[in-house]
Amino acid sequence: MHFISLENETDFDGWRAAARTLALNDVTPAEVTWRVKGNQPELFEPPALAPPLEPPDGTFHVPARFVELAQTAILHRDPQRFAILYRLLWRLRSNHDLLDAATDPDVARVAGMAKAVRRDEHKMHAFVRFREVGRERESHFVAWFEPEHHIVELAAPFFVRRFADMAWSILTPDLCAHWDGHAVSFTPGVGKADAPSEDRLEETWRRYYASIFNPARLKVKAMQTEMPKKYWRNLPEASLIKPLIADAARTTAGMIAAGPTEPRKPQKRDEPAMARKPPAADSIAALRAEAGDCRACHLYKNATQTVFGEGPQHAQVMLVGEQPGDKEDLAGKPFVGPAGQMLDRALKEAGVSRDKVYVTNAVKHFKFVPRGKIRLHQKPNTPEIKACRQWYERELASIKPDLVVAMGATAAQSVFGKITPINKSRGRLIDLGNGAKALVTVHPSYLLRLPDAEAKAREYERFVDDLRIVAAQMKKAARAA
Ligand code: URA
Repeated sequence: MHFISLENETDFDGWRAAARTLALNDVTPAEVTWRVKGNQPELFEPPALAPPLEPPDGTFHVPARFVELAQTAILHRDPQRFAILYRLLWRLRSNHDLLDAATDPDVARVAGMAKAVRRDEHKMHAFVRFREVGRERESHFVAWFEPEHHIVELAAPFFVRRFADMAWSILTPDLCAHWDGHAVSFTPGVGKADAPSEDRLEETWRRYYASIFNPARLKVKAMQTEMPKKYWRNLPEASLIKPLIADAARTTAGMIAAGPTEPRKPQKRDEPAMARKPPAADSIAALRAEAGDCRACHLYKNATQTVFGEGPQHAQVMLVGEQPGDKEDLAGKPFVGPAGQMLDRALKEAGVSRDKVYVTNAVKHFKFVPRGKIRLHQKPNTPEIKACRQWYERELASIKPDLVVAMGATAAQSVFGKITPINKSRGRLIDLGNGAKALVTVHPSYLLRLPDAEAKAREYERFVDDLRIVAAQMKKAARAA
C-alpha cells in the first residue's frame, strides 16, 4: 500500500505531483491511500507500506479540462475525492475521451463535486455580510461564513476585486482570508465566537432587504432554494424574513376578504397545464439554475450572481433590458432598482401588469467599475452581449412570447442579433420571423439620466406610448383567444 500525505485540504499541487509519480510507476488506484497531514492519527496508518517510489521517468497526457475539473473538485469536502480523482486520472490514460461519458460513475461524481464547489463559491459571494469593527481608529470589516466546501481561497479574489478599498477579513471554521488593501493573506480557521455580531451595518442591510422584498411575488420555496435556511443565521436581514412572509400572508388574506371579482373569460394561455406541452428540460426554472454557473464571459467574476429573467413561464410578452444594475446584482432579480421603479410606473400607466410579463436582460451579470464604495455601471460590449445571447435565445424558446420588447440599444442588439439603431425602429411592430413580433423602445435608465425636466416628461410620455402598444397587443390576443 502506498500512503500519500497531502499538505492540506486544498493541496492540488501535492496531489498532482503524487498522482503523476504513482501513475508513471503503474501503481493502481486500489494500492493507494490518501490523507491530509494531521487529519488522521498515526494509529490508523496501515502497517505494510510499499517501498518509496522511483522518481518518474517518462510522461503522459490528460485533457486540459481534466486538470481544470480536478482543481475545482479537489475543493469538495468528500474525503474520498483524492482517490476518486486518481482513479479517473488512471482511467483517462487509456481512454482519452472518458470525460465525454457523462454517465460514467467516476466522471459523474467528479463533475458533481466540481458543480457543488462552484455553487458554494457562488453562495459565499452572495451571502457574506461584512460588519464594521474598530470604527474609532481604522475601519476594518469582518464577516463570518461557514462554507460547505474548501472554497475560501477560491472565493477570496472576488472580494479583493469587489472591496478593494477596504480592509477586511472573512472568518470561517476552515481558513480565514484577510485583505489589507495591498495583499491577501490566509490564516487558520477560527470559531464563530471570534466574529463580531452587531453594528450599524445590520440596520442598513435590513432596510435594503425590506425595500426590495415584494410580497406580491413571494415564493417561499424558491426563496429558500436561493437563500437556503442554513445561511439565514449569519445574515442581518434574516430576522426580517419571517415577519415579511407573515405580512405577505396578511395582505393576501385581505385580498381574499375583499371578495371575488368576475372570473376572466378562459384564454388560450389558461389552458389546463396537462393540455400544454409539459415543461421540458429548458423550462425557465431549469434555465435559471443552469445560468447560475454561467462562465461564458468574464463578467461573472466580479458580479454577485447571475440575474436571470423573471415572470410567467407562458408570458405573452417578454421585456428585455440591458444588464442588471447594482441593486439587481445584490437582489438577484431584474429591474428592482431605480430603472425598475421607472419601468413599473410606466407599465402601470400604459395598462400593462408587470406580473403578466416576463422581464429579463440581454446580459445577465452586472458590469461595473468600483469607485470608492460605489459600483459604477458600465455598458456591456459586443463580445459580452454575444456571449450572453444564448440565454436570451433559450428564454425565448422556452417562453415563446408573442411580443418581445427591446428596451435600449443593448437589448435591441441581442433581440435582432446585430446593432440596431433605436430611433429608426422605435414604436412599430417588427416581425422576428418565428411567429413573434418585436417592439423597440428606449431603456428606462435613459429617462432617469435626462437632465432637463421638460425633456424627461416628454420622453417619459413617449415611453408610455410605446408600452401602450404592448397593452393593445395583449388585449388583441385576449380577444382573439
Ligand atoms: N437596467 C437594466 O437593463 N436591467 C435591470 O435589471 C436594471 C437596470
